[in-house]
Amino acid sequence: MNNNASSLINNKKFLILGCGFTGSFFAKTIRKLGCTALTSSRSEKRDRNSFVFNSENSLIPEEKIFDGVTHILSCIPPDKNGNDPVLGRLRNKLENLSLEWIGYLSTTGVYGNSDGDWVSEKDRPNPLQKRSKNRLNCEKEWIASRLPVQIFRLPGIYGPGRSTFDGIRNQKIRVISKKDQVFSRVHVADISNAIIYILQNKNSLKFHQIINIADDEPCSQIQVIQYCYDLLGLKMPEPTLFEAAKKELSPIAQSFWMENRRVSNKLLCETLGYRLIYKNYKLGLKNCFLNS
Ligand SMILES: NC(=O)c1ccc[n+]([C@@H]2O[C@H](COP(=O)([O-])OP(=O)(O)OC[C@H]3O[C@@H](n4cnc5c(N)ncnc54)[C@H](OP(=O)(O)O)[C@@H]3O)[C@@H](O)[C@H]2O)c1
Repeated sequence: MNNNASSLINNKKFLILGCGFTGSFFAKTIRKLGCTALTSSRSEKRDRNSFVFNSENSLIPEEKIFDGVTHILSCIPPDKNGNDPVLGRLRNKLENLSLEWIGYLSTTGVYGNSDGDWVSEKDRPNPLQKRSKNRLNCEKEWIASRLPVQIFRLPGIYGPGRSTFDGIRNQKIRVISKKDQVFSRVHVADISNAIIYILQNKNSLKFHQIINIADDEPCSQIQVIQYCYDLLGLKMPEPTLFEAAKKELSPIAQSFWMENRRVSNKLLCETLGYRLIYKNYKLGLKNCFLNS
């Protein structure tokens, strides 16, 4: 099966709603493959391929942006009321387009805590945090919309320009150890390529509405940080035990340590046959090291 992004669906028109870290990477990748990609940001039109969309102040894209759109990728998180900003503002518009596909980027936070066990798409979501409950609500809104949506659940996203190296450089890294705690992660290039792979092979693959995109090796934060310090040729500071560090962490940082799970990619990589570019943090971080 085709795991090579070069022969994609060219001449398709994508709208990337929420062109932050992942959205920009995806837009760049599909443009290289001959697709049109128009991207949104909240405040200003960044270039001739971008437009403004801000659900909070009703800045809605003008009509011509939607002409001929076949594909949409939404990278926009839930709004403060826990609803989906795209459906809230653009649903009628989307229903009147001849869309082939919509991708929605969600989070593996919807699984909640599994005490380090593997979680898969077959598990019933059990979100603990308010933001994850909101996210599950947005997934439900998308599914109920009956638009042709596919949901991608993502763990921690990293890549060149947003990785532990940047944290070390900006002195924003805390080296914290917590027994048996692991995190799952995914390189931004694998998010783009996995989605493209699924689109390319749409006619031969069974449709799954919810798919995790994660690497093969959930591991502790310390392993990741240690590996970065090694590549930089620097000595990693002594770890602080979580219990001691806890009181200095922001509530959001604390909340990440309250959940411990390994995110399975079996559906994507075994059932659907996608081959990861960066199977583990070492391969992915080497890429970040060489490109930062
Ligand atoms: N970062 C992670 O580790 C992680 C992990 C799992 C899932 N996710 C989720 O995956 C998606 C992509 O992640 P990311 O880190 O690439 O996102 P990101 O860089 O934070 O980009 C989010 C985009 O959404 C836009 N946006 C936010 N609120 C909006 C609103 N009310 N109306 C219109 N646009 C709005 C932002 O606009 P501006 O460009 O104007 O800021 C930005 O372009 C997000 O939904 C994120 O929550 C992230």
